[in-house]
Amino acid sequence: MPFNPELCRNESEVESKLIVQYLLPQLGYTPDTWHQEVAVGSIRLDFLAFAAQVIPFVLDANSPLSVVMEAKHPKQNLNNHVPRLRHYLTSLNVRYGLLTNGKEIRIYQKLQADIQLIFQCSGKEVEIKIDQIKTLIGRESLKEGQLIDKSKVQIENNSNFETKRQHSMKTIAIYHNKGGVGKTTVAVNLAAALRKKGKRVLLIDIDSQANTTFATGLIKFQFDEEDDLRDSNIYHLLESGDFYLIPDVTRKSHYFNNPELDVIPAHINLIEGQYKLNQIDASKTRLVTKLKKVEQEYDIVIIDTPPSRDLYAKVALVAADYLIIPSDLKPFANQGLLSVKNFIIEVNEFREMIGKQHIILMGILASKISTNSKFLQYTFPKQRSVILERYNLPLMEAVIYDRTVLSECMNQTITVGDLEYPDPKSVIKYAEELKSDAQKSAMEFEILADEVLTGIGLNK
Ligand SMILES: Nc1ncnc2c1ncn2[C@@H]1O[C@H](COP(=O)(O)OP(=O)(O)OP(=O)(O)O)[C@@H](O)[C@H]1O
Ligand SMILES: [Mg+2]
Repeated sequence: MPFNPELCRNESEVESKLIVQYLLPQLGYTPDTWHQEVAVGSIRLDFLAFAAQVIPFVLDANSPLSVVMEAKHPKQNLNNHVPRLRHYLTSLNVRYGLLTNGKEIRIYQKLQADIQLIFQCSGKEVEIKIDQIKTLIGRESLKEGQLIDKSKVQIENNSNFETKRQHSMKTIAIYHNKGGVGKTTVAVNLAAALRKKGKRVLLIDIDSQANTTFATGLIKFQFDEEDDLRDSNIYHLLESGDFYLIPDVTRKSHYFNNPELDVIPAHINLIEGQYKLNQIDASKTRLVTKLKKVEQEYDIVIIDTPPSRDLYAKVALVAADYLIIPSDLKPFANQGLLSVKNFIIEVNEFREMIGKQHIILMGILASKISTNSKFLQYTFPKQRSVILERYNLPLMEAVIYDRTVLSECMNQTITVGDLEYPDPKSVIKYAEELKSDAQKSAMEFEILADEVLTGIGLNK
C-alpha cells in the first residue's frame, strides 16, 4: 500500500511518520545530520537537517544550514505558518524550509530577506514526487559548495541545543523608531532584572535624550556647572579610537538597583556631535571594537537607542548580537515597523561588510499593554496576530503591562537641604522596598529576563 501522510492524525504523527520515518531517510539524512527540537537563540525548530555539516554544527554565512522542517497539525492552514518560517530561514541563514501538515507539503527557498515557494504537493503524492523533492533538498544535491568554517557560532551537541559563541558576552539592542513605546523603561528594568539574577550587566545609553542616564540616577546635578557627564560619555567613546575605552566612560548606578549596574551615560551634546561622527567612518564600529575588549567583564550588554534611524541607532544595531523591539502594538508603532525592517536590512549589509553575522531578532515585545480584561480578551490577541501575519515579525512571549508604578519609580526624588534631587529606582528595587504595586511589574520584568536568558543561551 502506498505511503499516505494524509492519514496522519495529529502533529506528532506528521513528525514521526512523515518526517522521521519517511522524508529524512529518503532524502539521505543520516541520524548525525539532522536533529529534532533545536533551540537557536529564541527560535525553536522542529527539525534541522544539514548537508555538509555534522553535529556539532556552526551558524555561519559560508556554510549555511540546509533544511528546516516544520510539522503542523493536519487541521492547520500552512499559510499561517509562512511568516514564522520566513523568520527562521532569514535570521538563521537556512537555505530551505519544508512546511507540512501531512495533507500538503511545501518547500520554500530563502532569498535575501524573504522566502519563495519552490515546490508544493499534496500528502498523497509524496511517493511519486519524492525524486523531485530529493533534487531540491536531498542531502546529496545540497552537499556541493558548502565549506565548513568553525570559527563562528558553535552549537553544542546535547539534547537541548543553545547557541554558544566563542565568547559568552551577549549584546542586546532595544530599538524601535517610534518614540514613547517603552524602550527606555524596558532597557533599564530588564538590565536591573538580569543584574538581580546575578548577571554582570553593562547598560549603554546612546540616545541624546539621555533618559536611561537619568533613569539610572546619573543625573544628580541641578545646575549646568555641576554637569559631570559632559566630558565623558558615549559620544567620546565613539569619537576616539585609542582613548575613552569602556572602563573610562562607565559609571556605577549606585542607588538605582541592588546590586548596582554599570552604565555608559549619554548626553544632550550627542545631537551636536553627530555631524562630526558622521565624517569619521570608524565611528560606526568603535563600539564593536571597544566592547570586544571587555567581553570577559560582562555577561550581557543592553543598549537603549533613540527613536530614529540616525547614526546612533545604527551604531547600536551594528554592535548588538540581538534585537528586541518594544511596541505598544498600536497603528503608528506598527507602521513604523516597515521602516525598522528596512533599517535591519541596511544594518545587516553593513555587518556583512565588517564580517559580522546578521543581527538576530528576538522579537517584538508587547509593552505598555493595558490590563483591562476586555481589552486583553478581545483586542490584544488581534493586535498580536497582526504583528505575525501582516508584518511577518516574531513576538516575544513576555508582556510588559501598562503600570503607573513604572513612571513613579523612575521619578522618585530625594530632598537634601533645600534642594530636591532625582533619585530614580528600578521597579525591581522598588518592589523589594515593599511597594506592593511594583511587585507585579517587577515579576513581569523577571519573566522577560528569563525569556531573554533562554533566548541567548545563558539560562543555566
Ligand atoms: N509599561 C509601562 N507602563 C506605564 N508607563 C510606561 C510604561 N512604559 C513606558 N511608560 C511611560 O511612557 C513614557 C515613555 O516611555 P519610555 O521613555 O520608556 O519610551 P521610549 O520608547 O524610550 O521613548 P523615546 O522614544 O522617547 O526614547 C514614559 O513616561 C514612561 O514612564
Ligand atoms: Mg527612550
